[in-house]
Amino acid sequence: MHAKAPPSDRRLRSRAWFDNPDNIDMTALYLERYLNFGLSQEELQSGRPIIGIAQTGSDLSPCNRHHLELAKRVREGIREAGGIVIEFPVHPIQETGKRPTAGLDRNLAYLGLVEVLYGYPLDGVVLTIGCDKTTPACLMAAATVNIPAIALSVGPMLNGWFRGERTGSGTIVWKARELLAKGEIDHAGFVKLVASSAPSTGFCNTMGTATTMNSLAEALGMQLPGSAAIPAPYRDRQEMAYRTGLRIVGMVHEDMKPSDILTRDAFLNAIRVNSAIGGSTNAPIHLNALARHVGVELSLDDWQEFGEDIPLLVNLQPAGEYLGEDYYHAGGVPAVVAELMKQGLIAEDAPTVNGRSIGENCRAATIQDEAVIRPFDRPLKERAGFRVLRGNLFNSAIMKLSVISADFRARYLSNPEDPDAFEGRAVVFDGPEDYHARIDDPALAIDATTILFMRGAGPVGYPGAAEVVNMRAPDYLIRAGVHELPCIGDGRQSGTSGSPSILNASPEAAVGGGLALLHTGDRVRIDLRRGTADMLVPDDELAQRRRTLDAEGGYLYPPSQTPWQELQRSVVGQLEAGAVLEPAVKFQRIAQT
Ligand code: FES
Ligand code: MG
Repeated sequence: MHAKAPPSDRRLRSRAWFDNPDNIDMTALYLERYLNFGLSQEELQSGRPIIGIAQTGSDLSPCNRHHLELAKRVREGIREAGGIVIEFPVHPIQETGKRPTAGLDRNLAYLGLVEVLYGYPLDGVVLTIGCDKTTPACLMAAATVNIPAIALSVGPMLNGWFRGERTGSGTIVWKARELLAKGEIDHAGFVKLVASSAPSTGFCNTMGTATTMNSLAEALGMQLPGSAAIPAPYRDRQEMAYRTGLRIVGMVHEDMKPSDILTRDAFLNAIRVNSAIGGSTNAPIHLNALARHVGVELSLDDWQEFGEDIPLLVNLQPAGEYLGEDYYHAGGVPAVVAELMKQGLIAEDAPTVNGRSIGENCRAATIQDEAVIRPFDRPLKERAGFRVLRGNLFNSAIMKLSVISADFRARYLSNPEDPDAFEGRAVVFDGPEDYHARIDDPALAIDATTILFMRGAGPVGYPGAAEVVNMRAPDYLIRAGVHELPCIGDGRQSGTSGSPSILNASPEAAVGGGLALLHTGDRVRIDLRRGTADMLVPDDELAQRRRTLDAEGGYLYPPSQTPWQELQRSVVGQLEAGAVLEPAVKFQRIAQT
């Protein structure tokens, strides 16, 4: 792999720009401008692969910013293997910094990257992934265009520490908020405690959406084995960047494209790995979106069928105790895959970017620390996947079973006659602003049996779908020892939150889903075993509410603030189907057209 790859027999697509005998005028025009920063005509016309580095790092995207450094090693790898490098920016996506929500920008970055990969002289691309939405945005674009592509994780931050305890990104906010509510820390202490979770460059060190999606990019076969978990500042990360650069050139020569790797088997492997790692509830949204762009059948039912019974093996916050550095030292994704392989739960023949199958890559991997990655027969929890719920509230919503705490089980799932069901009185919020304004209002009479609802937070109601379904209990309940209430909504939930929520409800209230008919005070019944979620309201009453809603012009949501919000709202689908730009789905494998 280290030797310079032989020149390809195939005529690479970049030659349509730089070496087109049928149109020497345009060839000259293309050449002259790419010469202007020092590339030579000889290089551009050599027939060597031109490799893009899709750069997601910038000052606006701190989680991925280390890719600016890593790209230097990627370049060295590409050069050494005989390729020519063209690095370019991807629209920034910063999970915590983008208002109103980073979810809005996944499809925008996707759209931009599709245009770049299709419209410029690129034979292959290195996708620099990391922060939550950067991974799906890059993979989705590579799938649509279908030129050889390899992903490189930026890696998690080092572990955070505070007074001798690990503090994990995102997760610490929920804890710190409770300490603040109880008066145990002041506001300065609150910020200090939260910031302790981010001691270095890299993405969130918890099993949030970033670690989830980077792990799944590896499980799908789209990055080199072992790449997902190496912490950003480690030297091994630099080496991985170099090897990734080397490998993409070989992939171009072999014409190994995303459609060769992203098979249904690859997705089913990823679903199982997602359960074993305790992956984020954003994973089904992003993987279902990716599957649609590559043309693979995948539905929420697959998540339940293939993922629900897989036990939780990885002991990372928020479901467990440890953080990213520990995950790496314990063996990372290969160790998890190997553990599942022993149970026959991995399609071992699924190809990966290094030209070997996932089985070949992971067979020899072993768990290095059983406190962090548990063996299959001694899991952290049984059944760590998602349960799909359906009823008159929505066509589908999911619940992550692994976050149901003993406290929650004792309070809500304790009826021996009916151990998997609970009922409660609904308190309904219309969007995050409404929730923030009213959650502590005693007039809502929220008590330990209330079920909190968040609507108007889906892809249309709150462009991009807000991560707001995980709502805290009112301060007066927290002080009384009630830390979590069940939450249900048509928005998303941060992967770093451990709340027992039912989320991603589709269709959302804004497009007329059942949630739009719910009133505060209605009784609601959730049955986890049967997979049902219903408001206990008679059908004729619901029909009357539907007529009233229609007469009022439907569920009201705030106007768009930007042109993109307006555009996306007009074409975006629901969370259960990946919240993709629906008109984009028919464009598949377009580099071949
Ligand atoms: Fe970017 Fe968590 S906020 S990875
Ligand atoms: Mg998030």
